[in-house]
Amino acid sequence: MKNLPRLALAPVFAAACVAAFATGAQAQGQAPLKVGLMLPATGTYAALGDMIEKGFKLYVQEQGGKLAGREIQYFKVDDESDPSKATDNVNKLIKRDNVDVLVGTVHSGVALAMAKAAKESNTLLIVPNAGADAITGPMCGANILRSSFSNWQPGYSTGVVAAQKGYKRAMTITWNYAAGQETVKGFAEAFEKGGGKVVKDLTLPFPNVEFQALLTEIAAQKPDVVFAFFAGGGAVKFVKDYDAAGLKKSIPLFGSGFLTDGTLQAQGPSAQGLFTTLHYADSLDIPKNNAFRKSFALAYKQNADVYAVQGYDAAQILGAGLAAVKGDFAKRDAMLAAMRKATVDSPRGKFTLSAAGNPVQDMYLREAKGENNEYRAVAVKALADPARGCKL
Ligand code: BEZ
Repeated sequence: MKNLPRLALAPVFAAACVAAFATGAQAQGQAPLKVGLMLPATGTYAALGDMIEKGFKLYVQEQGGKLAGREIQYFKVDDESDPSKATDNVNKLIKRDNVDVLVGTVHSGVALAMAKAAKESNTLLIVPNAGADAITGPMCGANILRSSFSNWQPGYSTGVVAAQKGYKRAMTITWNYAAGQETVKGFAEAFEKGGGKVVKDLTLPFPNVEFQALLTEIAAQKPDVVFAFFAGGGAVKFVKDYDAAGLKKSIPLFGSGFLTDGTLQAQGPSAQGLFTTLHYADSLDIPKNNAFRKSFALAYKQNADVYAVQGYDAAQILGAGLAAVKGDFAKRDAMLAAMRKATVDSPRGKFTLSAAGNPVQDMYLREAKGENNEYRAVAVKALADPARGCKL
């Protein structure tokens, strides 16, 4: 398997092999389970896709390279975070490679096309990042699950915190596509419920990073707080530009945690002290997170981030479903029911899935310190996406 030093994980494998023996005996003789990874390997979200894949494969490796006794065979497509190529790309996995399970992707617009194709072909889809609200809203389905979040969740929890801090006038800034729009909407919902007012929304097309004119407008309007959604390479540039424009000293910058996740090294001093909310914090001091971070660092010689966690948990959810049917993927209804009922022992803390298939999870307030997003508090406990429009 690519990128994984097997020796480093040897003790984990030994324990996993014993545990997997019973189900393994039943699953013997079955063909490998085909997992189609549709993730960005190029563009502003490339690093996010890489971490999701590493997290997914780490969990499988910890189980001895199998889930419920089934070998896993990977098929990969670089989706380039390009919605215009998404239908063709997902069909390479569904129709050409005939995968059993789709795992993807990062970008909400691409994931919406994946969800449509998964529904039409009745292929199991596990979304390990993209927050598009519709996926566990109007497009929800028994064969569609998410190991990550809905865009509404981190937006809403940051709005709660900003209102609690007493800010009254906010401006928002983001890319003009589903993730940005929906995250900002979640922020505004909670912020205005808490007594604040969003006075202006600023946007630019994805994945543009020409922020200067918009930063000038923020400086002119002087809101109490700015809320931003950016991620990956774009988040690095935005946080640096915000600082270089002199705004960090005068107008507090809040964001959903993607603004500083997996990016702190590249952002340097510009990100230090920024507050964000997310369903993960690097320094979350629970045994599962400590073990996960150690195992990830050992395997890949780099630190885990939220994307790695979501990939790891996508594999855990698949594993829970397969275990319930002893690796027999043909028992789909029982497998899907078990996945929906699973309590996932995640590095973010244990979570369950809502009826719509989205994590019900604690949202944390974090502060950027050094190269970690440090845990500060629970911003909202067990936050469930409202799943507006989901009919199952
Ligand atoms: C999205 O497009 O849904 C997304 C991308 C990066 C981070 C978070 C959400």
